[in-house]
Amino acid sequence: MDEQKTGSPYVVLNAAMTADGKISTRGGDSRISCEEDLDRLHRLRSEADAVMVGIGTVLEDDPSLSVRRVKGGNPIRIVVDSQARTPSEAKILNEEASTIVAVSNRAEEQEVNRLRSSGAQVIVAGDVRVDLVHLLEQLHEREIRKLLLEGGSTLNWSMFREGLVDELLIAVAPRIVGGEGAKTLVGGEGFKKVSEGIELKLMHYETVGEDLLLIYKVKGSARDPENK
Ligand SMILES: NC(=O)c1ccc[n+]([C@@H]2O[C@H](COP(=O)([O-])OP(=O)(O)OC[C@H]3O[C@@H](n4cnc5c(N)ncnc54)[C@H](OP(=O)(O)O)[C@@H]3O)[C@@H](O)[C@H]2O)c1
Repeated sequence: MDEQKTGSPYVVLNAAMTADGKISTRGGDSRISCEEDLDRLHRLRSEADAVMVGIGTVLEDDPSLSVRRVKGGNPIRIVVDSQARTPSEAKILNEEASTIVAVSNRAEEQEVNRLRSSGAQVIVAGDVRVDLVHLLEQLHEREIRKLLLEGGSTLNWSMFREGLVDELLIAVAPRIVGGEGAKTLVGGEGFKKVSEGIELKLMHYETVGEDLLLIYKVKGSARDPENK
């Protein structure tokens, strides 16, 4: 685990993507990874201090984000959820691991209390949407040094735009699903010009089962352990 001193955790974004760039189908099916890639994902989780997703992913996929396929401890689970919409029965609130729900000042007090009584810790960051820079600083204060970001599309965009992603792992599955509305790896507003885009450096690639794993570093990341 790389000890970071910049007040923000080292962030690794991992995603399973089809060969046409989708992370789920138009029907919301995101079971893209092969079995070997799922093993790799669970290993990655076990090596992280925390794993983070957006509320869109919780509502669509209801993930538990626990480590089940390999031996290892569960990371803290984090949901980015401005309005405290995480359902009380969501698997992310089960007792397998501890959970932080990050809300903004927009969240109703009653909903925040509901989440607290469901066992979640609540962090308030931001007025409208969750202020991700502020959130990551608070996570760093809680000794979270390595954060695994597991999407979805909208949160991935915000994390890149704020310069908070350090490493990107994409497992490309040999499949095309199409669909204009199907979620891509990074959604959000997007950049107008290619030259404005986030620059990556390809560090490594290998096959994992039938998938192709691509490992990139984000160029200029202040939290690059090699630049510490
Ligand atoms: N293949 C894969 O690896 C993979 C992994 C994960 C997800 N997915 C897929 O991705 C899809 C979900 O993606 P999504 O884009 O709909 O949802 P998402 O990125 O999971 O969550 C986005 C939501 O997070 C909340 N949020 C709060 N603060 C934010 C901020 N500062 N920036 C961005 N979002 C913020 C917003 O809702 P509020 O305003 O209500 O807070 C926003 O709509 C699902 O279909 C899922 O299956 C695929």
